[in-house]
Amino acid sequence: MPILIKNGRVITATDDYVADIYCAADTITRIEKNIDPNSCAPGTSIIDASGKYVFPGFIDPHVHIYLPFMGTYAKDTWETASRAALLGGTTTLIEMICPGKTDDAMQAFETWLGKAQGISACDFTFHMGVTRFDDASEKQFREIVKKGIRSFKVFLAYKGALGVDDRELYQTLKLANELGVVVTAHCENETLVDERQKELLAAGKTAPEFHEPSRPVQVEAEGVHHLMTFAELTGAEVYVVHTSCNEAVLEAQCAIARGVKAHIEVVLPHLVVDHSYTQKPGFEGAKYVMSPPLRHESQLPKMWAQLASRAIATVATDHAPFDFESQKTMGKDAFTKIPNGIPSVGNRVDILYTNGVTTGKIDLHTFVDSASTQAARIFGLKGKGTIAVGADADLVVYDPAYRGKISAKDKSHHHMATDYSAFEGWELKGRSDTVTVRGQIMVKGGNFVGKMGSGRLVPRPAISST
Ligand code: URP
Ligand code: ZN
Ligand code: ZN
Repeated sequence: MPILIKNGRVITATDDYVADIYCAADTITRIEKNIDPNSCAPGTSIIDASGKYVFPGFIDPHVHIYLPFMGTYAKDTWETASRAALLGGTTTLIEMICPGKTDDAMQAFETWLGKAQGISACDFTFHMGVTRFDDASEKQFREIVKKGIRSFKVFLAYKGALGVDDRELYQTLKLANELGVVVTAHCENETLVDERQKELLAAGKTAPEFHEPSRPVQVEAEGVHHLMTFAELTGAEVYVVHTSCNEAVLEAQCAIARGVKAHIEVVLPHLVVDHSYTQKPGFEGAKYVMSPPLRHESQLPKMWAQLASRAIATVATDHAPFDFESQKTMGKDAFTKIPNGIPSVGNRVDILYTNGVTTGKIDLHTFVDSASTQAARIFGLKGKGTIAVGADADLVVYDPAYRGKISAKDKSHHHMATDYSAFEGWELKGRSDTVTVRGQIMVKGGNFVGKMGSGRLVPRPAISST
């Protein structure tokens, strides 16, 4: 059904103006002052956006939904995660396909696609996880790229599980460079992590708060430096996921300054929660165990500053949802067994707006750029990430006057499948009132009204360039 959004303040990565937006079908057809509803198709839904912002649909380029990991499975399904994403203003998700080291790459691609297709309410695509590189998997990666999956994911961490060795990293980057594929990478030196974990456990340091000292900032900075060396030698374009500290960002920036094609991501938790959260009593600290770990509070202003200057390109979530009661507690006797991850796919836009924009840490354009536009640009998401005639009608009418609180106990607000929220009790100063995906109204008045299964695999014909 056609939609007409009236009197909204339209914000993109570069522009700020008041206009009406008409979407005759799945794309934006007109952007003008005072569009007469009589000039629109019969049956057009009119949305009054007076006093509200209109943002392009937000894109989360780093989520895990189906994830076999650390002896368990992440809690969400595409049904729960896509609904939570849309209610939180996110209209496109990029999930990481994470095959086990001995799994068949093509089968993994089919499995992950099958979990999303026909089930997701929002649009989606994938980064193809390269957890093993040999002749057989190389052939399959070439086929998967032809299907429009134009990005890879490698882990330099998780020794013996998902991590690749240097030969595999080199070959992956060479292939990526040949195919014009961006390689996203989790950068931590896996051997240093492994050794330090053993030392800490041997010293009886088993609690969640010892997760951080097992992988300190140097371990991450070394991982980024390592990736950049390989990117420089192969010419591949790389994207460093979830940088958690200034030391890691600086390593990537040094490489960019010498001509390496690299992009930097931060994820929501590293902007808003710090290491002290892992010291919460009653094993509650386990809720905040993720990798790279939450850092000392002195890092947070530095990460905001790097985001404000746009040295950091994107804000994602690294949504990796595990229940507290039945899953995080697997690590009661050793922090190394706590499933890593903080659920946040439904919270990113509102917390970034509340804690970033309303406090003046970032401006509205940086907000849109980092939470939508850059992800579309870097990963070649055709039609996404902006508001323009011809772009997909993925739009968020955002109410800055809304006031509310996050609570996992309130099922009308907590839509992720986990039994807790890492942001319990946090105040919100804004929320997505209306959300559309390719012209379909998915959220209205803050309620989900969309059709499950209407999300599509986003075409990715173009390759990105820095
Ligand atoms: O702690 C995290 N980040 N869990 C998900 C897997 C990953 O490393 O991205
Ligand atoms: Zn990671
Ligand atoms: Zn991740």
